[in-house]
Amino acid sequence: MNEQPILLGVNIDHVATLRQARYRGANRTCGEMVEPDPVLVALLAERAGADGITVHLREDRRHIQEEDVRRLRQSIATRLNLEMACTPEMREYALKLRPDCVCLVPEGREEVTTEGGLDVVGQMKRVKEVVDAMREAGIITSLFIEPDPEQIDIAAELGSPLVELHTGGYANAYYTDRRHAEFDRLSEGCQRAHDAGLVVNAGHGIDYVNIAEVRTLPYIHELNIGHSIVSRSLSTGIEEAVREMKARMRGV
Ligand code: PXP
Repeated sequence: MNEQPILLGVNIDHVATLRQARYRGANRTCGEMVEPDPVLVALLAERAGADGITVHLREDRRHIQEEDVRRLRQSIATRLNLEMACTPEMREYALKLRPDCVCLVPEGREEVTTEGGLDVVGQMKRVKEVVDAMREAGIITSLFIEPDPEQIDIAAELGSPLVELHTGGYANAYYTDRRHAEFDRLSEGCQRAHDAGLVVNAGHGIDYVNIAEVRTLPYIHELNIGHSIVSRSLSTGIEEAVREMKARMRGV
């Protein structure tokens, strides 16, 4: 059912997490002793076959900084996918930065569904304002939602061309007896989103083991993977870590 190869968006937030662990107070984000540099890692990930680079600029700036996003916008050759909260501040920021794609994600507790995706059902007006503003600016919007029928139907109604289905529930259940039920829930979510005319991405908690099953989900266009790739890169280097994930995504 996935006729095209699944694309890989590499989320480099945790490269910045490591940098901020030491250099939070520094007045710079790269150069001299300030490392690791997420931008350098992004360029190497692209060289190894990443199809896009994803960052989440959080309100608390706990990992990625505005300077990182600015440098990424100027230097990467693939697509920049900016994950952001659904707020007027971030909307204005995205309109200035002009990433290729924005993915609306929950940050405040009140914006989160029970499982952890963005509650688009509970805040339709707010989400629609951002989706419409992005469309007018030629920026593609994705909504990070649970594989829940109501959330999927409303995402389609709001006019977002893409959804990213939250795979965290499945990943957390992987070593439990809920794994198959969670997989089926995701699989049905992919089918429903596809039937509603949405392009289907997925992400959160995907690793080198569960990818063997995740890759069999129907209609997946792109997977966004961060923690497992960045973690693996500490022992193999980022290029090998990306190449290996891409191979596993092909079932090799
Ligand atoms: N997709 C979205 C929307 C995310 O917010 C994140 C980061 O939490 C990811 C994918 C990547 O998740 P992970 O780091 O677990 O691979």
